[in-house]
Amino acid sequence: MDLKHSINKNNIPQHVAIIMDGNGRWAKQHGEDRIFGHHEGVNSVREIVEACGEVGVKYLTLYAFSTENWNRPKDEVDALMELLVSTISLEAINLHKKGVRLQVIGDVESLPASCQKELQESMDLTANNTTVTLILALSYSSKWEIADAVKKIARKIEEGTHKSSDITSKLIEENLNTKNYPDPELMIRTSGEHRISNFLLWQLAYAEFYFTDVLWPDFRKNEFFKAIISYQNRERRFGKTSEQISSN
Ligand code: IPE
Ligand code: IPE
Ligand code: MG
Repeated sequence: MDLKHSINKNNIPQHVAIIMDGNGRWAKQHGEDRIFGHHEGVNSVREIVEACGEVGVKYLTLYAFSTENWNRPKDEVDALMELLVSTISLEAINLHKKGVRLQVIGDVESLPASCQKELQESMDLTANNTTVTLILALSYSSKWEIADAVKKIARKIEEGTHKSSDITSKLIEENLNTKNYPDPELMIRTSGEHRISNFLLWQLAYAEFYFTDVLWPDFRKNEFFKAIISYQNRERRFGKTSEQISSN
């Protein structure tokens, strides 16, 4: 059954963040090398970006490569970087046609030069698109991002443009990589792992979490719509009581 029609159009999360996990296990189940799973995972990315456009999700952050993933076997890291470059160069035109704006968060300078170049060209090409903003988290970890924000703020204090009493949540947010995006209302993790793995620790402070056993290469539109429907059945209280929420 197509679940799209069961979605309430008046309660769509603006921003969905996804930990795309389970490519390796998917490949193993199919008797293939891990990298085969990563290739198949690209098809899920394409579908989920499209699904966001269909239901009106404006921001989609995908955790594609973590700081910790640099510790994987060199063969896998190299293959992932190659896949990244080839995917971006092949998909940029399609993303552009669909009105998708591409953005990146993470330690982009640690990526291979070819990858940085492809990313920059695709970001420039799609810069004025407004249908969906697709944010790739690459060489990203939240502790790295927060430490980087602290460094930037400390520098401003050293330079005398800020005082320590200026430090607020807002100032910290303005110095995170995600400063131009709203916080995600919904965080999805596939593959049955129930952890956050250094992803958007600050930004997910009040997000709803959705965990599914489905492996990323099998996570397609209907699975995404299921997650949206689950989100729509939650009561977001932000510290208030249920009675306060329902009387509004
Ligand atoms: C997620 O799938 C993709 C990346 C981390 C790049 P995994 O590669 O972690 O797959 P599993 O968890 O080993 O199945
Ligand atoms: C998290 O997946 C990172 C990405 C999806 C890119 P991992 O599979 O690397 O996470 P852990 O290390 O098992 O928690
Ligand atoms: Mg994994």
